Amino acid sequence: MTTDHKAILSFTDGTPSVEFPMLKGTTGPDVIDIRKLYAQTGKFTYDTGFLSTASCDSTITYIDGDKGQLLYRGYPIEQLAVNCSFLEVCYLLYYGELPPESEFKEFEQLVIHHTMVHEQMQFAMRGFRRDSHPMAILTSLVGSMAAFYPDSLDINSPEQQDISFVRLIAKMPTMVAMSYKYSIGQPYIYPKNSLDYASNFMHMMFATPCEEYTPNPVLVRAMDRIFTLHADHEQNASTSTVRLCGSSGTSPFSAIAAGVACLWGPAHGGANQACLEMLEQIQAEGGLAKVGEFMERVKDKNSGARLMGFGHRVYKNFDPRAKLMQETCREVLDELGLGNDPIFKLAMALEKIALEDDYFVQRKLYPNVDFYSGIVQRALGIPTSMFTCIFALARTIGWVAQWKEMITDPEYKIGRPRQLYTGHPERAVHGKRSRA
Ligand code: ACO
Repeated sequence: MTTDHKAILSFTDGTPSVEFPMLKGTTGPDVIDIRKLYAQTGKFTYDTGFLSTASCDSTITYIDGDKGQLLYRGYPIEQLAVNCSFLEVCYLLYYGELPPESEFKEFEQLVIHHTMVHEQMQFAMRGFRRDSHPMAILTSLVGSMAAFYPDSLDINSPEQQDISFVRLIAKMPTMVAMSYKYSIGQPYIYPKNSLDYASNFMHMMFATPCEEYTPNPVLVRAMDRIFTLHADHEQNASTSTVRLCGSSGTSPFSAIAAGVACLWGPAHGGANQACLEMLEQIQAEGGLAKVGEFMERVKDKNSGARLMGFGHRVYKNFDPRAKLMQETCREVLDELGLGNDPIFKLAMALEKIALEDDYFVQRKLYPNVDFYSGIVQRALGIPTSMFTCIFALARTIGWVAQWKEMITDPEYKIGRPRQLYTGHPERAVHGKRSRA
């Protein structure tokens, strides 16, 4: 990993120059190893938002934003989305290789047989207001797993790590569906072991005790693809949160709950909801006839409006997930006889204008995964308030794989960023305060 090259940092304040090793990954930019910077110079680096900082080394996911490339364990997302099920992708992300056929059946059965949650969990749910946001409930439920499953909290036991991994990916769909059912006042639907992962989730979401629900294979495939496309995305905010929280040695359930909490923010997991709401608003204001006017608003810096579902911090060419999601969107709408869905037409019209417009071209703004995922989820019958929960369900595998990679790294340490202190220098409290 270390190269023959060095980075030399020189100072104008008299501090002697220091040399740092340069590290090379399999692909991607070289990295300057500054771990000894403070010891050698007494200085820190300053990098709010971590725009230039690699916080770890990882073998799980690689993104090349300029090429529009996303790889899970080296496999392009386009190939995984078309050829593999989400559970195969889970196995790949966690264990590093795609499962051999014989092992996969066993793994699938293992996951399916862990989908039921502790019965007490439904009583814990009763403490929540009915109108609680499902993400608020989900954050608590995931954290509460440390209370319900105390037999898999030893982070140093490889066996317990694996049990926690299976429990998390198996129970997440059940907990998401429970959050939904609770919010609409319907009884929880128990998982059904005869169904595959995505069908089981849709069954728990949409069946009622009074009516059987038969999952439609086209819609199930769409759900499964949504899961795969959101499964991991290297060191984003929620994943970094899971790593930092987990670095203290806390339970995997607590670390993943921290990831769920982080994902809830509108700048992260909430964008697909914002995008769908934007499309619905344009539709309400006049639809296709108003697209031009809306685009002018988006380009006007003073309006504060943005074309939601466009642009990405890392992808500056295209988001490979957006293309796959657009394909899925078409399939789902055709299957449901909604090929003329005005919101989909509106999205296509906006995309076409944006891709030809100088403002967007110059700034390298392309549709991201969220541009079409809201339309797909709406067509599947999922309400907007549940979009981020679906994202959390899918991302759980990424979080667990990254957590496991961290805690099994012999060099892992508790995360402890430093700061540039700009507050008061030391000062004295003058005289006794009234309550002292
Ligand atoms: N609509 C209009 N203008 C935009 C948009 C947009 N969606 N995105 C960026 N710009 C403009 C900015 O105004 C800025 O213009 P300027 O250089 O004239 O000032 C320029 O493009 C660069 O914008 P930044 O915000 O600096 O770009 P950054 O890479 O930091 O932002 C982000 C990325 C936050 C995703 C941004 O593109 C955005 O807000 N998009 C809309 C929200 C969205 O879809 N988020 C989902 C991200 S994907 C995900 O989380 C799964």
